[in-house]
Amino acid sequence: MKLFSSVHDVPDVKALVKEALHLKEFPYAFKALGENKTMALVFLNPSLRTRMSTQKAALNLGMNVMVLNMDKEGWALELRDNVIMNGTTVEHIREAAAVMGEYADIIGVRSFPGLKDREEDYSEMIFNKFVQFCGVPVVSLESATRHPLQSLADLITIEELKTITRPKVVLTWAPHIKPLPQAVPNSFAEWMCRGEVDFTIAHPKGYDLCTDFTQGATITHNQDEALADADFIYVKNWSAYEPYGQILPGNEDWMLTNEKLKITNSGKIMHCLPVRRDLELSSEILDGESSIVVHEAGNRVWAAQAVIKRMLEGF
Ligand code: CP
Repeated sequence: MKLFSSVHDVPDVKALVKEALHLKEFPYAFKALGENKTMALVFLNPSLRTRMSTQKAALNLGMNVMVLNMDKEGWALELRDNVIMNGTTVEHIREAAAVMGEYADIIGVRSFPGLKDREEDYSEMIFNKFVQFCGVPVVSLESATRHPLQSLADLITIEELKTITRPKVVLTWAPHIKPLPQAVPNSFAEWMCRGEVDFTIAHPKGYDLCTDFTQGATITHNQDEALADADFIYVKNWSAYEPYGQILPGNEDWMLTNEKLKITNSGKIMHCLPVRRDLELSSEILDGESSIVVHEAGNRVWAAQAVIKRMLEGF
């Protein structure tokens, strides 16, 4: 594997999930694989889980790890070609990415969308330029439109905790005060559509995701209808795809409570985190027995380790 940017880079999703669960059981079984290899984790945006879980995964595989908080510690990057750099940018991504490729055997990149220009965000310009110029395998640590390590961890969690062969999984929109990217729900949707689950997306009118990611999902504006008999409920806010990056008024009643969960099949509650308590998801759920959000975050290690292992095996 030379690139991990979406589910489309994984020929056999089931095998990758199985491998991740095997690594969870035997974290150090492949410690020799990464000896004398270096992973660089490059963040253009904040992170807790992705940074720490990916670092731990690489260390479990015997790699050296370097972390660069590009947004705070790096030079201001120029992304455009054919411009005279007489403004605030100091280094072109062409040189920056190529230099990183001299120091690292694998690079992970996090780059959020601007949420202003849909065409630019959905072209994945920043992530793709890293891939183009660094010359080594690249792992997405969340890009403008996808968060594949998160989605793989989510699928691992469902596989691990399911009590029936084909569980009902619901992605439900949740309220927020800030416009958030569509990367997590886009990615979750396309991974669930490749998983052995019955998958429903529930959101208020106006929050339709790009249909490229939702083929095979049942989509409804009725949250109760979606929650009925659900085994796993994935809670997430996202801003509108059309009008792009906007928050539409109302819909505060979409926040999940224990009362709403009564119609589920003892549904387990997932969230990628970070989560705003009692805005996006109620404290009573987060602190209750139905929440598996911390377990889910723990599985980020095994998702990252399975992907990095595949890349190391390609050297
Ligand atoms: N879920 C997730 O990606 O968390 P961080 O933004 O903290 O990495």
